[in-house]
Amino acid sequence: MEQTAQFYLIYPLGLVDQGLDELKEKWELHFKDQPLSILSVDEGGILLSATTLQGFLLNHLLRTPTRILMRIAEFKARDFPKLFQKISKIPWKSLMIGQAPEVVAAATNSRLFDSRKIAKALQDGILESYRKQPVKKKYLDHLEANKTAELPKVYYRAVDDVITISLDTTGEILHKRGDKIYTGLAPIRENLAALLLMATTKNLPKEELTLIDPMSGSGTFLIEGHDYFSVNTEREFAYQHTPLWIDVALKKKVMDELQGRPSPFAKLQGFEINPDVIELARKNAEGKKINFTQSDLFSEDNSLVGKNVVVINPPYGLRVGEKEEINLDYYKKVISMIKKKYQPVRLGIIIPEEHKFNPKKEELIARLPFKNGGLPVVFYILNV
Ligand SMILES: C[S@@+](CC[C@H](N)C(=O)[O-])C[C@H]1O[C@@H](n2cnc3c(N)ncnc32)[C@H](O)[C@@H]1O
Repeated sequence: MEQTAQFYLIYPLGLVDQGLDELKEKWELHFKDQPLSILSVDEGGILLSATTLQGFLLNHLLRTPTRILMRIAEFKARDFPKLFQKISKIPWKSLMIGQAPEVVAAATNSRLFDSRKIAKALQDGILESYRKQPVKKKYLDHLEANKTAELPKVYYRAVDDVITISLDTTGEILHKRGDKIYTGLAPIRENLAALLLMATTKNLPKEELTLIDPMSGSGTFLIEGHDYFSVNTEREFAYQHTPLWIDVALKKKVMDELQGRPSPFAKLQGFEINPDVIELARKNAEGKKINFTQSDLFSEDNSLVGKNVVVINPPYGLRVGEKEEINLDYYKKVISMIKKKYQPVRLGIIIPEEHKFNPKKEELIARLPFKNGGLPVVFYILNV
């Protein structure tokens, strides 16, 4: 019988519903023989039950979460000796390869909140568990050979003295795809771009659409659109340094079975005013069918007829030193140029919250507030 576990998928705040759409779609594509077992959804993420292998592989398949944690234990503790004792009883030798892991702690309304003391209690408890149940030599050898790798961290979360212990399966944050190296000014995180793109194109026939980003910067939206169904084998994930993966037979076969798909869009087109940035975008998108053209949105050239959908992250003024003053009128002008040049079936645009953009009621499909690089912004999906 295959081992199952609970996995918690973390998403950017406010965008879990879009993440759920992706999870359902990709689960159906890759694991359709087993039903998707969602245990709960809250504002920060999704808890599901899956085999450990499925949970690990979701790191390669999903483009929208920030991180995937595997739940290890849940218990009550109100003092450090109790915490130490509970941790030392977990069979860590079958979860980790002998490291004293880094600890990431968060506590709300809890008696144990000092993160340094929490980390010490956890590390001491884990070492005590290793002492009683020693880690196998083959795992220690793996540790020795992978000392500089991003090993799984242990996540500690306490709410009202109920403590949840999880193991990170992701390692370096998931928005790092492993292939994009060049960034322009104020790029959007890859998983955010994927989430916003999904929200914009929901229920549209993507295979008929041209995806346009009129201020494409380093090309994030278009690359995410192109790679939406691809399988990320470009980077390492933390789970690869756990006994649960090290012991998987036929790893290559498992990975080969994860078949990606080509871009769901008919065409992908980026426009960008800055020729140097265009060059970066072309490098990022090497080998992908994405067209980048130098063009000023406010000029009359390069209009495109057809079934277009537009996503755009215009400069914020606060972050990008543009000459033109960036105020509400600027964003309105951006929208009216997009309507004129591309007549999109749908438009998704990021506008800083401070501008209090108020679209016409009949045009607004969704309003998704979130933070981009710490700045409160709103993603408007418009039927223009
Ligand atoms: C906030 S950045 C977009 C970031 C992009 N989404 C990414 O992830 O890299 C805005 C981009 O718009 C470009 N830009 C500014 N004004 C423009 C205009 N009038 N026409 C086309 N591009 C413009 C800037 O050069 C910059 O690369």
